[in-house]
Order: sequence, then structure tokens, then C-alpha cells
Amino acid sequence: MSNVKGKVVAITGASSGIGEAAARLLAQHGAHVVLGARRTDRLEKLASTLIAEGGSAIYQALDVVHCDQMESFIDFALSRFGRIDVILNNAGIMPLSPLEALKLDEWNRMIDVNIRGVLHGIAAGLPVMKKQGFGQFINIASIGAYAVSPTAAVYCATKYAVRAISEGLRQEVGSDIRVTQISPGVTDSELADSISDDQARQIMKEYRRISIPASSIAQAILFAIEQPPEVDVNEIIIRPTASSA
Ligand SMILES: NC(=O)c1ccc[n+]([C@@H]2O[C@H](COP(=O)([O-])OP(=O)(O)OC[C@H]3O[C@@H](n4cnc5c(N)ncnc54)[C@H](OP(=O)(O)O)[C@@H]3O)[C@@H](O)[C@H]2O)c1
Repeated sequence: MSNVKGKVVAITGASSGIGEAAARLLAQHGAHVVLGARRTDRLEKLASTLIAEGGSAIYQALDVVHCDQMESFIDFALSRFGRIDVILNNAGIMPLSPLEALKLDEWNRMIDVNIRGVLHGIAAGLPVMKKQGFGQFINIASIGAYAVSPTAAVYCATKYAVRAISEGLRQEVGSDIRVTQISPGVTDSELADSISDDQARQIMKEYRRISIPASSIAQAILFAIEQPPEVDVNEIIIRPTASSA
């Protein structure tokens, strides 16, 4: 009997890439998936497909930068299903550039989405999970949470922060709430589309030549969720086999 069947999994950034792949796989395994992102046309299409395939899916517009929207997203899941088993803090952006390009708006945007977005997920979900006496946060970091490379200083800083926040959360809430940090290497998705800097875009073109599908990361998410309640998978790093970075 799958440990995933019947679980309520709220997914931020479910409109493409890893979030979408996770939604598909978890719905196939019987989870109730609650999809959040800004592109609701994508969410609507995904939810319809999952339901047509026999799964359970609902969606709501979500900008993780706004804590009230995150609270409303979690309330939405609670009102429909009466519990939250997992919050997958996945939404993220990666507009890379050299620091000297001084793209302050992009730095701030990464801090807002990649760090504040995760904190907002915790703020909205932790009181619910404490009250329930169970729950799991799965935060998507990156191999950029372990090493820095040129043009990626701010992005990596946000992912180091996700790693620190995840570890701190684990230490503080350990007894009944599980905390998992998953760190992908290069994965097929739309992540690099937001790069506005020519130099960074060129570097990424070569760097992202070797990649794994988003479904590989979804498999790791499924693995972390399906463990028994006393087993807390804390950190997983997944790279393409051929990757040297
Ligand atoms: N792909 C990789 O190589 C890789 C490697 C390491 C880590 N990661 C991490 O994996 C996570 C998922 O990225 P991905 O690779 O799947 O890229 P993606 O295809 O670009 O997906 C990013 C998702 O985040 C959502 N998002 C962006 N800003 C948002 C906001 N303000 N509020 C709500 N949702 C927002 C997007 O939806 P909307 O635009 O519709 O809002 C989209 O669904 C990110 O945290 C990323 O840093 C990816």
C-alpha cells in the first residue's frame, strides 16, 4: 500500500518543469495535488489532464512573493481536503548575471521568490502542521546550494539560504514534522528562460547541454514522501551522471 495515496500535497510552481512533473507523478500515485503558480491557464490544463486520468487535482493562482496569497493557497487546500500532508516549496527563478552588471531588480526578485517564497510556505504551513501533529516540507534547493560559479552568485546565495532554512527547520520541528531538501543538478525545464544577460545566457547554453528530465526529480520527491512517518529523508542531490559540476 503506497504511503502517498490520499496524501494532500500542495505544490508551488506547479505550472512547469519540476513542479509539474511532481504533480503528475504524485497524482498517479493517488495523492490529492493542490497546484499553485501565476500562470493559471497552465494549471487549469494540468488539473484537467490529471483528473481525466483518474487523479485528484485542484489549483489556485499563487504568487509566492505575497504571504497572504500563500496563506490563501494553504487555506484552499485545507478547505477542500481538511489536512495538509506535504508542502512542496518548489517555485523558483534563475535570472543569472555577473555581479558587475548590477541587475538589482533581478537580484531582489530572486531573493523574493527563492527565499521569501519558501519562508512564506513555512509561515503558512507550519501552524497547520503543528496543530495536526504531522506534515512534511520539501524544499527545492539546487547544486547551487553547495557551490558557487560565475554569474550565479545571487542565485546560489538564495539556494544556500534554502539549505540553511531547511536544516534549521528540521532541527526545530523534528519530532513530528519531516523536512526534506532536494537539490537538483541541471534538469530540463523553463528555468533558464528568464536569463536576460547575454554572457550568462551563453554560459548556461553550454552548461545546460547535459541534463536530466524533470521526472527524475519528481521520483526523488515521491521517494521522500513515501517513507514511513518515522523516516525523514533530509537531503538528496541529483545530478546528470555525465555532469562534472
Ligand atoms: N531546472 C534546473 O536545472 C534546476 C536545478 C536546480 C534547482 N532548480 C530549482 O527547481 C525549482 C523549479 O524550477 P524548474 O527547473 O522546474 O523551472 P521552471 O520550469 O521555470 O519552473 C518554475 C516554476 O516556478 C513558478 N514561479 C516562478 N515565480 C513564481 C512566483 N512568484 N510565484 C509562484 N510561482 C512562481 C513558475 O510558475 P509561474 O511562472 O506560472 O508562476 C514555474 O511553475 C526552482 O526552485 C529551481 O531553482 C532547478
